[in-house]
Amino acid sequence: MKKVLTYGTFDLFHEGHYNLLKRAKELGDYLIVGVTTEHFDEARGKVNVIDPIMERIENVKKTGLADMIIVEDHEGQKIEDIQKYGVDIFTLGSDWIGNFDYLKNFCEVVYLERTPNISSTILRKDKFKIVRVGTVGTGRMVPRFLAESKYVSGISVECAYNPTLEEAEKEEFGKEHEIQCYTHDYDEFLENVDAVYIASPNETHYEYAKRALSRGKHVLSEKPIAFSKEKSMELYGLARDNNVVLMEAVKAAYCPGFQQLINTAKNGRIGQIVDIEANFTRLADPLSRERSDSRYGGAFLEFGPSTLLPVIKLFGADYKDIRFDTINDENGVDIFTKVSMKYDSGFATLKTGVGVKTEGQLVISGTKGYIIAQSPWWLTRSFDIRYEKADDIEHIESTFQGDGLRYEIGEFISKINGVGNKDFKLTAGESIAMAEVIEKFMEYRKV
Ligand code: CTP
Repeated sequence: MKKVLTYGTFDLFHEGHYNLLKRAKELGDYLIVGVTTEHFDEARGKVNVIDPIMERIENVKKTGLADMIIVEDHEGQKIEDIQKYGVDIFTLGSDWIGNFDYLKNFCEVVYLERTPNISSTILRKDKFKIVRVGTVGTGRMVPRFLAESKYVSGISVECAYNPTLEEAEKEEFGKEHEIQCYTHDYDEFLENVDAVYIASPNETHYEYAKRALSRGKHVLSEKPIAFSKEKSMELYGLARDNNVVLMEAVKAAYCPGFQQLINTAKNGRIGQIVDIEANFTRLADPLSRERSDSRYGGAFLEFGPSTLLPVIKLFGADYKDIRFDTINDENGVDIFTKVSMKYDSGFATLKTGVGVKTEGQLVISGTKGYIIAQSPWWLTRSFDIRYEKADDIEHIESTFQGDGLRYEIGEFISKINGVGNKDFKLTAGESIAMAEVIEKFMEYRKV
């Protein structure tokens, strides 16, 4: 019996998939089809797969062509499967020509002609209108956003807004980043886009977000989204009333590794959680806004939301006491802030710095063990679970692509398209709770 093996994502199952499976089956007597998991696809850079794995498996099953369906979830699995199932022929579409020649050491490799003019990518584009995004601000986050948005399908960054740049600089910015429209008129800017990414100075996020939401535009705003609980609630209320998406760009929240870390902490592996320590420091350029703006720059406003994220996610917003201690430089800029929070069942300590350096780790301590993630834990690539015995360590590696922004952008686009509309990664309530801490911090700074 000749066994044939093929793999695919089979998202939005289409004619090209059917033809491929049919011809694959004709190559032998028994067809094994591997369907990829979401995690594996993310690791390969496919962040916008729409159908859940069970649906994709079901669609392959419905063709009646597969004698066996398996799940592909890790790199190197192809060789394993070929050996495990005694495969004679490995096959894939012609878009992969050459990529799998290394498997010729294990079995025959056949590339089948791809069906022209159809792909999941094309269907995803047809299914959803391309979201036209504009960037508010033209600072250093914007080139990162542009570069990472190329890995997300269904988005086109078309317009940039900045109220202050001169004509000459505008042209340079546009040319450099292939942005077609550039304006210093916010209303005109909003007319040209469906959604905005706000990466302007901290104190302007709220106002820009409010105007965009009121005009029915989706908003992804850099943190902090607002300086008070009330304003943050107002923004989420506006988003709800206008039926648009509002997301706070706390990158960690959307990283697969961070979600895995939080879920590991929640699943009881380290027992009951009693302490969280989250540190985030970067010695910032003295001329940068965060290092020179005494009112709206500084360590806590820059890194506070990221450090608060694991605390709010694990302990919630019902802290009994919160205390800030800040060291200012000679110009009154917060170069180091330490926050101590007390909950009924535990404590949290956050350290943020733009002019002080410390170990940037996240440690979650429990009654049975602890989780530790090293800097940059906010772009989680890996973490350890450790126990009493020093050599009893579980090391967990996670998927992490590019500089991590693509996960946040992918989530934003999915939500706009109504695909990822469950906001468990960062709920409105969690974002509002963070704004409340920011508000308390601003009150403390005034004293
Ligand atoms: N395939 C094909 N003809 C097409 C599209 C896909 O023969 N028009 C084949 C691929 O070469 C692969 C299998 O179908 O062997 C599964 O491909 P998959 O990556 O799931 O589908 P695509 O439509 O190529 O997906 P995407 O656009 O997301 O890359």
